[in-house]
Order: sequence, then structure tokens, then C-alpha cells
Amino acid sequence: MKLRYMFDYAVPAPTLFCDSGAEPDARLQPSMDKIRIRGGRPLRGTLPISGAKNATLPLMAAALLTDETLTLANVPHLADTATMASLLAQHGVSVGIDGATGGGHTGRVMSLKADRIVSTTAPYDLVRKMRASVLVLGPLVAREGQARVSLPGGCSIGTRPVDLHLKGLERLGARVELTNGYIEATAPGGLTGAEVVFPFVSVGATENLMMAACLAKGETTLVNAAREPEIVDLAQCLAAMGAEIEGAGTDRIRIRGRDRLGGAEHTVIPDRIETGTYMMAVAITDGDVELLGARLDLVAAVADALAPAGVTVRQTERGLHVRRTNGRLTGIDVMTEPYPGFPTDLQAQLMALMTTAGGAAMITETIFENRFMHVPELMRMGANINVHQATALVRGVPKLTGAPVMATDLRASVSLVLAGLAAEGETIVNRVYHLDRGYERVEEKLAACGAEMERIRDS
Ligand code: EPZ
Repeated sequence: MKLRYMFDYAVPAPTLFCDSGAEPDARLQPSMDKIRIRGGRPLRGTLPISGAKNATLPLMAAALLTDETLTLANVPHLADTATMASLLAQHGVSVGIDGATGGGHTGRVMSLKADRIVSTTAPYDLVRKMRASVLVLGPLVAREGQARVSLPGGCSIGTRPVDLHLKGLERLGARVELTNGYIEATAPGGLTGAEVVFPFVSVGATENLMMAACLAKGETTLVNAAREPEIVDLAQCLAAMGAEIEGAGTDRIRIRGRDRLGGAEHTVIPDRIETGTYMMAVAITDGDVELLGARLDLVAAVADALAPAGVTVRQTERGLHVRRTNGRLTGIDVMTEPYPGFPTDLQAQLMALMTTAGGAAMITETIFENRFMHVPELMRMGANINVHQATALVRGVPKLTGAPVMATDLRASVSLVLAGLAAEGETIVNRVYHLDRGYERVEEKLAACGAEMERIRDS
């Protein structure tokens, strides 16, 4: 048995969607749980922040680069990490998860050992459920000289091509073909280091190329690389595995390839998107909460944006203390950008926050072409929002009212939870499986801070 779970509560089956919202597989139907919220209660107390989903997924893929054990601590307990574990298991990776000895606040320890890769194919059924599956491409070609990975399709938030991943691998000498919906990449003699210039910033392409370059001959330079903290976390883990990497966190990353990498132990960084989400949950309910384990340096742009809106965020010894500065929130103008700018993964939550702020807010989405699916649902709760192309104009209303709502991706779903926390009356958030992909125990964490919120299990 390759996959060994020791979860202390049921995690949705590792069977979910593209990382923003394809429909569930009929054969592997995830739970249709709902969340019921009675709004109007301020959040108070402490709330633990989990390890970062978007750091964990590439870190798990990095296990394919070595035949030794990679041990990750502070791994969040999510449907997406379970999906990645399933994918790696079918490549031949032994995956062990220990819930008892997790690092950080809630994380588990995961050990991954890819001593023998039994398949270099990432099948359609898994890739279409989670786009981050494409992160196995670079490591597999680099180590095995070949990989066949289903081409991820479009997503509810945009078309999301992977052309930069493929062009980058070609620069390292791989031959890449698209056949029957699969990416077929081969490099029988191994990859060779090269300069890869990205025309625009891509987190996933930077991660795939960084991992591939670790086992390429010679030096690779990634120009216009993504600077996200998840990239730095991956670089630190790869360095612990024996890779030679400089410049992660800047737009120029240099990697000197090695013949082999070894095992390592690494602790996943706290989730900056979960942190930002709960910062806004505290603000929207006029609460006062300490986010345990959160780091201000990871959410500096968010804290800077929220300050003029009337939200105070302060680093404490244990995490971040969040509260409103005084009285009502004020509308602010925000544009999403690659790190260190304001993250697209917090745009929906910010919009929920702005629905009841004084005055107007202008929110512009620059990363994904279709990331406003939360707008019509927020409007059903009484929000006043006008969208023109990539910009949403939010005019603050005195109050939201509860409603049954549903969203088609992770961050849109959580924005409806935030709106529900502030709304008068009852909100039912449907399709909780989206939340389970990226928010660990969302209803437990918020209820522990006083939210009247519960999961209604699908019987
Ligand atoms: C990562 O996706 C995150 N996912 C996303 O989080 C996040 O929204 C996104 O980065 C931007 O920050 C993970 O880390 C697992 P990109 P990724 O490549 O790597 C276009 C969430 O909610 N593009 O930086 O797929 C692309 O279409 C998720 O947790 C190409 O055109 O994002 C997009 O418009 C959703 N060609 C832009 O670049 C390519 O080859 C940025 O995408 C690659 C990307």
C-alpha cells in the first residue's frame, strides 16, 4: 500500500477539481455539504493559520526529484493535498501522513519517498481535478527523461494555459509534443541548463522550471521569475535537498544542476491567503482576533491596502493581531498583481469586505480574465457592484442580508462565507467542497471565534 493516511477526521476524497472549479466527477462524487451561517457576530479570540496550500503542492511534487525521503511538516489537511498525494502515489511515491506530530499550529507531517518511479504518466482523471498536478511535469522529465501529463483544461477563473511551462522545458532541451490531450515531454539524454526568459510572471512555470533545472546539466537562469513566498519556500526545500539555487524571491533565479538530490526535512510556510482571508473576516464582522502563526511579511501588501480602509494589523509574538481601527470601513481602490502586489487569491474576499464599507471601492483583477463569479452571488445578498471589464465598482451598502448562495471556485466561495458572517439573517453556502480544497476546518476555526456557523453534512 503506497498511500497511508492517519487523519483524525474525514477529509473529502482526493477526487476534486481543477484548482478553481470544474464539476465533480460523477463516479467519485465529493460531499455536497453546506455551511449554514447566522451573521452579525463579531469574531473574537485566536485562530490558527495552517500551512500554505500553494507552497505544499509544489513541495510535494519536489519529492519526485530524489529516491530519498522528503519529509514535510506543517502540511495542511486539505482535499488538494490529498489529490496531490494520490497523483504521486500512482507515480510510485510512498506517501505517509502523520496527524499526531504535525509542526506549526495544525499541520501534519508528510513523508514522501520516490525510490522507484513506476509511471511517468499523470492521467486526465487526476489532472483535470487539480491543475497543480502539472507540477509533476518538470520533476518527472528531469529525473526520468520523460513524462506524459494530461493537458489541464480551462478553469472557471480563466483559460489558464501552460505554454510557459512547456516553452521553458524546451529551452532546457526537452522535446515537447501535444498528443491526444497529453503533454509528452522527452529528454532521453537529460536536460541541459539554459536561460529561460518568461514573457510574464507565472508562479507554476517558475516552480516547474526550478525543479527541472535542479537535475539539468549546467546552469539555468530564470528571468522574470515569480517572486511569491511559495517560490522561496520551494527553493529553500530544494536547497536542503542539495540543490544550488540563488535569487529565489527576486525576478532572477539561478540554479546549478546536480546529478542527484537527496532527502530533506522542511516545514511549510504559513498560508498567506488563509491569513488574508481571516484578516478580512475579522474586519467585516468588526471583530478582534489574533491569527496564530501568521506572518506580516507574507501579507504586507494586504495589510498596507487594508490600513486606509480602517483595518489595523499588528505582528505579535504569536502571529497577527487584527481589528478595525475605529468605526466603519472605508472603500479603497485595489489592483491585483503578482507578488509583492495584492494577490488575486484575495480579490474576492476584499470585494466581500468592501460591500459594506463607506463610499465606493474599485477593484481591478489583472491576473485572471474571469475571476468575478462571486459578484452575482454577493449582489443576491444585497451588495451593490458594477463590473466593467476587469474592474468592479463596489458601492458600500449599510447591510447585507443572508441568502442561499453558491460559488464556482475556492476563493469566490470563501468570499460568500465572509459576506454571510456580516449579513443579517441566515446564509447557506452550497458546494462546500470548494472550501475544503483550500481552507482547513473553516467552520471549526470561525465557530471557535464566535461565528454562528455549522456544516450541514450531506446525508
Ligand atoms: C498559482 O496558479 C496559484 N496556484 C493560484 O492559486 C494563484 O491564483 C496564481 O498562482 C496566481 O497567483 C497554485 O499555486 C497551486 P500563474 P498558477 O501561472 O501557477 C497565465 C488558488 O485559489 N499563464 O502564475 O496556475 C495564467 O493563465 C489558486 O489557490 C499563461 O498564460 O498561476 C494566468 O492568467 C487559483 N501561460 C497568469 O498567467 C502559462 O504557461 C498567472 O498564472 C502559465 C500561466
